[in-house]
Amino acid sequence: MPVVRLAHETDFDGWRAAARSLRQAGVAPHHVVWTVDGSADLFSPPPPCGEGSGVGVTVGCAEATPLRPTLSRQGGEGFRVPRPFVDLAGQAILHRSDERFDLLYRLLWRLQDKPELMHILSDADVARAHGFARDVHRAAHKMKAFVRFRLAKDDEGEVYVAWFEPAHRVTEATAPFFVKRFANMRFSILTPDVCVHWDLKALAATPGADPADAPREDALEDYWKTYYASIFNPARLKVAAMRKEMPKRYWRNLPEAALIPELIAQAEARTSDMVRAAPTEPGRRVVRAAVRNSRDAPWEGQAPTSLEEIAAGVDHCRRCDLWRDATQGVPGEGPPRARLLFVGEQPGDQEDLAGRPFVGPAGQVFDRALAAAGVPRAETWVTNAVKHFKHELTGKRRIHRTPNAGEVAACRWWLDAERRIIRPRVIVALGATAGLAVFGKATSIKDNRGRALQLPDQAQAVVTYHPSFLLRLPDEKAKAEAYEAFVEDLKLAWTLAA
Ligand code: URA
Repeated sequence: MPVVRLAHETDFDGWRAAARSLRQAGVAPHHVVWTVDGSADLFSPPPPCGEGSGVGVTVGCAEATPLRPTLSRQGGEGFRVPRPFVDLAGQAILHRSDERFDLLYRLLWRLQDKPELMHILSDADVARAHGFARDVHRAAHKMKAFVRFRLAKDDEGEVYVAWFEPAHRVTEATAPFFVKRFANMRFSILTPDVCVHWDLKALAATPGADPADAPREDALEDYWKTYYASIFNPARLKVAAMRKEMPKRYWRNLPEAALIPELIAQAEARTSDMVRAAPTEPGRRVVRAAVRNSRDAPWEGQAPTSLEEIAAGVDHCRRCDLWRDATQGVPGEGPPRARLLFVGEQPGDQEDLAGRPFVGPAGQVFDRALAAAGVPRAETWVTNAVKHFKHELTGKRRIHRTPNAGEVAACRWWLDAERRIIRPRVIVALGATAGLAVFGKATSIKDNRGRALQLPDQAQAVVTYHPSFLLRLPDEKAKAEAYEAFVEDLKLAWTLAA
């Protein structure tokens, strides 16, 4: 009985090459055993064609060529493989079911006598293959929607790291989506199947990590540093060193360095349809699943009564649509009894990735001004009017877009809860969007800055510039004056809060 040993779990090219050879040799599906050769050391050169299976079947070998749309029938000509089948197979093979290779070969076999087979959706094999492809598609969407990065640092600077356990083997296929979205961020996505790394130039893969070692969220940085930072450099991959650093079981899918460009090309080809179809818009089913997964839909019904509920809830918030394109909801932070509460506009690009407010360029201006005003940030609560990053993609950059009044109104639910729970003495609105959120109506900064304003809930308010406004001012003199006024406003707020 022919045994086909594929090089790894998502070895589509190996499957295509083997399927073609088997089909041409007239080997019926029930005679074929498909396996994945987990022991294959992918750093070694691939075996010459014909070796390995012991049946003369070409399997993942150096000369394996893609399944062409035209196949010959047992020496005869004229058997065409419909393109939809090839596309479907490319998706279905990423499913975790052990049946997938067999199912796809059976379909290929049956297509010869029934060219219209793929249109018969009631056929059990066709339905099963479509079911696999749907599961894979859903898993890829979930990965796009739910991967959460944490900021880490290594010798080369900042890197964003995420741990994710996809339902199916979609990590490599989905990686180009993250490259497109975070082109100017170094990142690593660690999964049990494979880990993918973007270094601003190239995407590369290293073996998956054992789920038993899945780091707790707050330990992700240390985990990544220990296992990856010291060893990962595609230009310097060394098996011995890597094995020394990490138990062998991690490396079962170890790709050789030379395979990386090919692997990227394959991944891109396989996902291009998916990415083109819906880059950032999870389908309705995914949205419903997200709603279900969040257990008691913390963004509706009764308002939260603790800061912990808010912190957990904003990430699941669906009160407006901004969550769709954002990496995560960014909650406020600070001591629960803060006397002074700052409200910004919305997380920026870096805040969206880090999950914390005011940590990017605007945050640096803010920190500098706070220090100049003698306000300890650690004693204040810092939050935003809108908790998800609104932006649009221009090329590979995510460009900030101002939230509209509807989005601000939807997100006030969270800000109002923060205000009720913390009960600060003073609230500082940083910029016009924050003014709208704090006062519930448009509030001119020019006319109102520099003085204390009364809020209905007993707190006082100060409105002032947004730190980004200071960054954007082109004229140095105007910039210096606005910065000075900003520092004065911060001093006033701190005095009022004392
Ligand atoms: N701008 C804001 O308004 N908030 C942040 O958290 C970062 C930038």
